[in-house]
Amino acid sequence: MLNIMLCGAPGCGKGTQSALLVEKYNLKHLSTGELLRAEIESKSEVGILADSYISKGNLVPDEMIIEILLKSTDLLANKSCGFILDGFPRTVEQAMALENISKGSPNDINFLIDIQVETKELITRLLKRGETSGRSDDNLDTIKKRLQIYETKTAPVNDYYKGLGKYHAINGMGEVDEIFSRISEVINTEFKK
Ligand code: AP5
Ligand code: MG
Repeated sequence: MLNIMLCGAPGCGKGTQSALLVEKYNLKHLSTGELLRAEIESKSEVGILADSYISKGNLVPDEMIIEILLKSTDLLANKSCGFILDGFPRTVEQAMALENISKGSPNDINFLIDIQVETKELITRLLKRGETSGRSDDNLDTIKKRLQIYETKTAPVNDYYKGLGKYHAINGMGEVDEIFSRISEVINTEFKK
């Protein structure tokens, strides 16, 4: 079963590439950002609380995100296809929780793919998306905060997976289909092993 994580800084293309990978490899897409935005949209208690973090560019608390992920998905259930985790784990604590939940099960994570994009390009992409997205975090001040939080809280997750021998980095600069080919190459190579 193919179970992968797509990680990288805000705007690196996790959502864009997930949509293509879902089609090619018949995967289920689990985006914690999208789960949170659905809660915000429905004005639930969790959504209102989550938005108070998201709109300032902060991460929501680990306990909240783990609960939402487990409640909203069949991560623990037997299933007929693999999955892509997009935007989770985002802290070393989340990564450790995920390993504990999934290790040895059919949901064990195969590897993480880190999509690497230059900061200037990330800001350009997110500001452009902010013209139409309606996302409370697609404005310059919040984008800068998200990038800073990424460096301090999320980048260490890469080292955690390097330590487990489950880390791949790809160049996320260029056209969407070029980047998709690079990710597909990693997946195909891993699955020939
Ligand atoms: P989340 O929704 O995960 O947002 P993010 O990580 O900030 O990333 P984005 O969704 O903004 O970007 P992306 O990498 O998906 O890129 P995309 O494909 O859209 O999280 C939002 C917030 O929720 C967090 O800040 C946090 O508060 C909270 N949260 C979520 N998960 C959490 C967790 N696990 N723990 C705690 N808190 C959590 O592309 C971006 C734009 O660029 C698009 O417009 C796209 O069309 C364009 N684009 C894509 N590829 C290219 C390309 N190659 N060339 C040009 N443009 C491109
Ligand atoms: Mg996204």
